[in-house]
Order: sequence, then C-alpha cells, then structure tokens
Amino acid sequence: RQATLGIDPRLRVAEVDPRLYGSFVEHMGRCVYTGIHEPGHPTADDAGFRRDVADLVRELGVPILRYPGGNFVSGYTWEDGIGPREQRPRRLDLAWRSIETNQVGVDEFLHWARGVGSEPMLAVNLGTRGVDAARALLEYCNHPGGTAWSDLRRTNGSPEPYGVKLWCLGNEMDGPWQIGHKTAAEYGRLAAETAKAMRRVDPTIELAACGSSNRRMPTFGAWEAEVLAETYAQVDYISLHTYYEQHGDDRDSFLASAVDLDRFIEEVVATCDHVRATGGHRKRINLSVDEWNVWYQARFAGEENLEWAQAPRLIEDTYSVTDAVVVGSLLISLLRHADRVKIGCLAQLVNVIAPIRCEPGGPAWRQASFHPFALTSLNGRGTVLRTVLQAPGYATTAYGDVPLIDAVAVHDEEPGTLTVFAVNRDQRQQTALDLDLRACPGLITAEHVVIADTDADAVNTAEAPDRVVPRRLDDVKVADGHGIAALPPLSWNMIRFQ
Ligand code: AHR
Repeated sequence: RQATLGIDPRLRVAEVDPRLYGSFVEHMGRCVYTGIHEPGHPTADDAGFRRDVADLVRELGVPILRYPGGNFVSGYTWEDGIGPREQRPRRLDLAWRSIETNQVGVDEFLHWARGVGSEPMLAVNLGTRGVDAARALLEYCNHPGGTAWSDLRRTNGSPEPYGVKLWCLGNEMDGPWQIGHKTAAEYGRLAAETAKAMRRVDPTIELAACGSSNRRMPTFGAWEAEVLAETYAQVDYISLHTYYEQHGDDRDSFLASAVDLDRFIEEVVATCDHVRATGGHRKRINLSVDEWNVWYQARFAGEENLEWAQAPRLIEDTYSVTDAVVVGSLLISLLRHADRVKIGCLAQLVNVIAPIRCEPGGPAWRQASFHPFALTSLNGRGTVLRTVLQAPGYATTAYGDVPLIDAVAVHDEEPGTLTVFAVNRDQRQQTALDLDLRACPGLITAEHVVIADTDADAVNTAEAPDRVVPRRLDDVKVADGHGIAALPPLSWNMIRFQ
C-alpha cells in the first residue's frame, strides 16, 4: 500500500517559530518539588536543582517554559516565593489540594530556566488577583531599578532585570474548575485592563489571552469571540489547551487525535480573523497552544478527591509507543499551522504528564514520548512547506474518515536539509510513503529514524529506561526525484534529506 507526498520548496507556509517547541513547569505534583528541584539529591546543584534532570531538559530542546501554572497560578501569591527561603510561608494550593512550601519561586525558576537554555513564559494570577499583582510582578522582573519592586529584586540577588518577554493573562479562565472562574465578559475586561497596565510597565512584552480549555467546552468559539472583542488591541496571542487519551479500546480514533487539533486550530484562527474583520483591526492575533499532550484524564480521580499533601504523586502518566506516535502526530499538526501557531507548550515537563520522569533520590529517564518531541525540536527548524498528500483513509468513531498517513515537510535552506515528519496510523500494515522530490534537485542522501515496536504498549521505566528508543532504518534511496520510505505499522517517522 502506498501514499505520496508532493514537496516543492517554493510553496512556503511559514518559518517555524522555535517557541513552538516549548514546555510547561507547574507547581503541581512532583513537577517542581522532587522533579526539577530536589536539594539533597546526589546530582543537586548549589540551588538544589537536579543536574540529571536539567541535562535531559536541555536534550529535549525546549526554547520556552511556561510557569508557574496551570490551575495553580489562579490562587498563587507570587510574593510568597521571593526573599529568604526560611521566611517563606507554607500555603494551601486550592487547585491541587497540595501544601505549597514556596521554596521555589520566580527568582529560582528564572535562573534555572535560563541555565537550561529556555526563555520563560510567565502566567499572572487573574483568578484570585488582578491588575495590581500582575503589574507588580512585571515590575519586579523587568524594571531595571530605582522602584520598590525592582529594588527588592536586586536585594534578592538579581541586579539585572530578567527581561521576561512572554506573559499569559491568567489560565483557563473559561473552566468552572478554575479558582476565580469568570464569564467571557468578566475575563475579557479584566484581561484588557491587566494588559494595559502591564504594557505601561514594559511596552516590549508579548501577551497571551486565555482561549478555551478544550474544543469541547460549551463556550468554545463564543468565548474566543467575546474575549477578543474586549482585548484585541492589547494582546498578541490567544491560547488553546488540548489533551488526548485513548477511550476504551478505540485506538483508531486516538491515533487520529491530530485531526481534532487541526480542526481546533483552524476554528480559532477563523474566530480571530472574524473579530479582526468586525473590529476593523489591522494586526493578526496568533495562537499559543500553551498546554497540549496525551493525558489519561479518565484515570485521574479529580482534584476534589485528593488528600492535602506536599508534592504528591499526581498524574504521573507512563507513555507507550502508541502515545509517542500520537505526540509526534500532534507536533505535525502544530507545524502544519506554523503561519498562525507561534507558541506551543508540551504539558508538562517533569513527572506530571511529562516526557521526563525521575524518582526522589533516584534516576531520571526519558519517556517514550520524549523521543519524537526531541527529534522534532532539533530537526524541525526552517520553513514549513505546503505539501500535497495522497493517502488511503480509514473510518474512526470520533473523527469520521481520516487519512492513514499524516506528514509535514520542513525545509532549512542554510544547511540545505529537507525533513519530513510522518506517522502511519495503520495498526497492522506498513505503508510506503513516496516522497516526490522532483522540485527539490540536489537532495541525495536520506536518513530514516522511526519510533515503532512489535509491542505498541511498550514503555520506558526506571528499570528499563531505554526499552523504547528511536531506531535508524536504512531503507530510503533517492532516485529519479523520488525517495520511498517504508513506514512501519503504528509508527512515527523522521525522514531527513540533504
Ligand atoms: O497540566 C495540568 C492542568 O491541565 C493545568 O493545571 C490546567 O491548566 C489544565 O487543566
């Protein structure tokens, strides 16, 4: 069986914004405490951050990191997390029924993030707080000095301003579970006023307004339209959050999750452009998919059932080969929309629905989903091309008829590489992908890297951390302007030409 992908480097979608490959650190479960930060761990640095975890974060390749939430931020008092650590209060975190010790706060996080090669994307609390706390945090972070907040930062050990460019105006404010949940009208006004004040503190920042928490929210569409009607002139991005999981034994639908993400993105783009037209605006609002991943929410008992605890084990999902293929296919969807999706954050980074896992006092390891992410982040740089895919289809319960193959091509002129990321959603059969390269003369060598396994449920664990790793296939030859790759059943593939 065969599919074809027509590729022409003159047909450009857009440059890939490296911030598409971001991730997310929330004060939730063991993402921060006994995740990135564990004083007393054999690899801990002077500030208590684990070096083994930091090395994996660098290898993952995450140019931005969103922080500190998530639902956590909607009850967070950022001032609790600055100054002498022994004086910081212990608080109840109402989002995850956890005890927050505040041993890591904005200063520690910003130093650590830069150390692992990431720029921060900070979220402000628009749940229990508002304009004043947001503009104070921005002043603390970005104002050079000579004011109370900026001088406090200097006293706390950071003489230079952090220059945080990217800010989220709250988190999932459309969700009834959110502390301080609001209607679109309430949130839109608050977000617009917060944005106005923040821009007066630092006009160089970029701002993301909350969109919908997922495409199935009853307010989806209307929420974006109303929020943007209030905030259009003040913001640069609208956010999208989306998580996928396999329901029952319906793996065929799960493997097609990127079809849902495609639709979600295209519907939000349409809504942004509708508000642009009706409001008579010139600029375009772009998209920040600042929480996405596979998350087995059906296995989570719900935050209301948790016991109060410090750094509890929460949603430490173990990802299989199948999950890794879905993660890779979601990245294909993000890349395909590179003209409007500028920011992406894989949620989350460590332990909590994360590509990196670690044990207190023990090892850190890469989950199966680490690999397609790291390879796409490393190699998916350059210009996304508008390709023509012809592929057989299959029927899914969730999304109707969908293609068995999905693919995207990225051209990087400088090293002269063409990289195709492709998934085969067929659980049983291999599919030959014929890459039509006649419009790309000069490409002669190819490498093919694959994530696939005879056991689609195989996972990595502390005991077997490399059970699932990318494998190199030596099957692609370029001849007569075509390169043909055999995509194994249920696989994620990277085919790279030079
Ligand atoms: O990433 C886990 C949670 O998912 C976040 O706190 C929240 O924003 C979303 O609902």
